[in-house]
Amino acid sequence: MTNGDSVQPLEGELWTAAPQVSQIATDQLGSASAGNPVEQLGGAPVGKAEGKPAEKPKALRTSQKPTEESVGLEFEGQHLDLPVIAPTEGPSGIDVESLLKQTNKVVFDPGFMNTAAVTSQITYIDGDAGILRYRGYPIEQLAASSSFLEVAYLLIYGELPSESQLKNFQTQISRHTLVPENYRAFLNSFPKNGHPMALMDSAMSAMGTFYPESLDPHDDEAVDLATVLILAKIRTITSYVFRASNSANFLYPDTMRSYVEDFLRMCFANPFEPYDVDPAVVNAMDKLLILHADHEQNCSTSTVRLVGSSNASVYASVAAGVGALSGPLHGGANEAVLDMLSQISAGGESVASFVSKVKDKRDGVRLMGFGHRVYKSYDPRAKIVKGHADSVLKALNVEDNLLEIAMELEEIALNDDYFVSRNLYPNVDFYTGLIYRAIGFPPSMFTPLFAMGRMPGWIAQWREMIRDPDTRIGRPRQLYVGVDERDYVPMKDRKHTKAKAEKPITDTIFE
Ligand code: CMC
Repeated sequence: MTNGDSVQPLEGELWTAAPQVSQIATDQLGSASAGNPVEQLGGAPVGKAEGKPAEKPKALRTSQKPTEESVGLEFEGQHLDLPVIAPTEGPSGIDVESLLKQTNKVVFDPGFMNTAAVTSQITYIDGDAGILRYRGYPIEQLAASSSFLEVAYLLIYGELPSESQLKNFQTQISRHTLVPENYRAFLNSFPKNGHPMALMDSAMSAMGTFYPESLDPHDDEAVDLATVLILAKIRTITSYVFRASNSANFLYPDTMRSYVEDFLRMCFANPFEPYDVDPAVVNAMDKLLILHADHEQNCSTSTVRLVGSSNASVYASVAAGVGALSGPLHGGANEAVLDMLSQISAGGESVASFVSKVKDKRDGVRLMGFGHRVYKSYDPRAKIVKGHADSVLKALNVEDNLLEIAMELEEIALNDDYFVSRNLYPNVDFYTGLIYRAIGFPPSMFTPLFAMGRMPGWIAQWREMIRDPDTRIGRPRQLYVGVDERDYVPMKDRKHTKAKAEKPITDTIFE
């Protein structure tokens, strides 16, 4: 297989054809054939001892953490003791693995409100206390002091990188940011008004076809290669997804710039013109990516794990994650927040009257960007985002009346019994859209930006899942409530039922 450690260009990456990249290759690395270029830069390859912690974090087996405690279940005159599993923090888990076998009963838990399907060492959330930690580090400290790639490394490899480890990781990523020309053409072939999330979903799925040497989920080197390739190319893909929707030509990466700065250049620069961006904007974008980087077993991450549990590739798994994230109750909420604020602004409706509509549950209207399955207090990410919203708008000299509407909505909701009694507080999506809008992104790009930030988390979770000896193919049970057994009815004896709404067939041929 191709060795991902040596940062050799992969087929179609065209390093020699891209002038700025080949220039760097000559200046910094010397001849491509003279050994490992990353080692020449003083870093060690990803996947080797210097490039990540020597010891892989040991996978937890649920059976390794039993407690003295058990929970008794009485059923049909019998008694069953269910063992209790202890976490490091948070609620302990009743192990119901033997339930079906011993009782012929299953657990009914719509929306998995009470179900822990995995043990994980990656992210910890205490929704009541408003706590979020990646690998033990509070999100506030990471957002204040680290960078997106540092956090990506932390999530994926379990420890903060040393200086040389980070440099090496950054180099690996920047050397793979180019995408093959036919991949660019593929990304440019979608309808311009198609939603960027659909395009991103397809882009992630298609990536696997370009790098077959990185597909095997049980080959550690292949997984490390796929890890670097996804993180490297996602910033290119996200910028292309944005430019494709504007019919703008795609730019090549500039590896002399930082990950986030070059991402912004690839989104907003004109070809052959210098591009400068305010460091406050780069900083805010970097922080938003950190805040989105992981959020334990939510809808999209569970999807990534579920798809991966069939031993599907990491590309197929994260593509499924993108699909799950696109919904307005999940990542799509940031776009829905902007739509909501714009509608209030355009319709001249008062914030108070909009809030009444939400409380009456009229037309199913919800206060988008409010509420969370896990946080029953202020989402700690929302606090950080709110602070940055102010500084970005100031740095860009933008006055946005939607920010004022958002703040008024928050003020009213936080003092209204409907929201207080249901523990509904602003979540991360309430203010992110306002920052993205100030930077210049349209609402349809908000969720792709969220997806770009979530990539390290999805990859980390997928890697943990694939190495966990407890992983089995995900396969929930159901309670069947349909029709009982019946005999097949021949066509001539069937009645015309209203099983499906019928429409007249026209002569139109649909393309
Ligand atoms: N506006 C008005 N009422 C709400 C809202 C809201 N945003 N969210 C929940 N409620 C009400 C809901 O109607 C229900 O009321 P009742 O008890 O009278 O029936 C109660 O609060 C509980 O709601 P739920 O739908 O059972 O709660 P859930 O945990 O299933 O849903 C949620 C969580 C995030 C889907 C929901 O709060 C929501 O739809 N929020 C708006 C969408 C949004 O902002 N999503 C982004 C989530 S954060 C980003 C991410 O991590 O994906």
